[in-house]
Amino acid sequence: MTATIINGKEIAEKKRMEIAEEVSKLKKLGVTPGLAVILVGNNHASRTYVTNKEKACKELGMNSVLIELPEEISEQELLSKIEELNMDDQIHGILVQLPIPKHIDEKKVIESISPFKDVDGFHPINIGRMMTGQNAFLPCTPYGIMVLLEETGISVAGKHVVVVGRSNIVGKPVGQLFLNQHATVTYCHSKTKDLKGHTNQADILIAAVGIPNFITAEHVKEGAVVIDVGINRNEAGKLCGDVAFAEVSEKAGYITPVPKGVGPMTITMLMFNTLKSAAESLN
Ligand code: GUN
Repeated sequence: MTATIINGKEIAEKKRMEIAEEVSKLKKLGVTPGLAVILVGNNHASRTYVTNKEKACKELGMNSVLIELPEEISEQELLSKIEELNMDDQIHGILVQLPIPKHIDEKKVIESISPFKDVDGFHPINIGRMMTGQNAFLPCTPYGIMVLLEETGISVAGKHVVVVGRSNIVGKPVGQLFLNQHATVTYCHSKTKDLKGHTNQADILIAAVGIPNFITAEHVKEGAVVIDVGINRNEAGKLCGDVAFAEVSEKAGYITPVPKGVGPMTITMLMFNTLKSAAESLN
């Protein structure tokens, strides 16, 4: 079988057009969605991500505020800045770009963001709401994966989903979203015995390990849906995922490429969450 490629870039563009329409409707009601992005220090990759988030806001007609803080900033100063943004009516989403310097407690920072403005979906209140199936901000990459499948017409209920990777940002929450949609979910990780035995059971396989070419054709059941969340650089410095794309695409039914697969959906769902927050501020 040769897999159908799920074009994340195209699906992200379609979703962004829908978001832009909703933004313009909200603006007519006097509300412009506003996202505050806090960047601490000078991590090169973080700066690129933050620039892309700002650009997306502008393209969709939203306001964005970039707050750049020095590496040496104290935890208290950062918490005060977040508190200021929590109180600001013009700001509907607050995002602290991770990682932050080691002298600052990341958990404390995440928990200081108002759950009503936590557009990353990292606050324990939003995670709890997601787990219990309540209205919540869903973390952007997992949410983006669900939208990719929905837009491709791939049903989830009753399917066996195997998630490889258990990070708080991707692995754990994506399994929960599949469970919420009535899938049977298996989590695998670095201590899993007989990984291939598990992954070969997957109707939908999620690769979120952060190791280039970790998932090979041997891991994949004929016709499975393979979602590659990895963003790695290979020895030649070329962007690549966690899945050995050439061989797996000969066996899978559907596959996401890297780049232009899951990646473009992450910022799209951040924009969606910011819009949602602004819309809910009217209630
Ligand atoms: N660093 C890498 N990915 C993310 C993300 O989705 N949100 C934030 N805040 N930081 C990140």
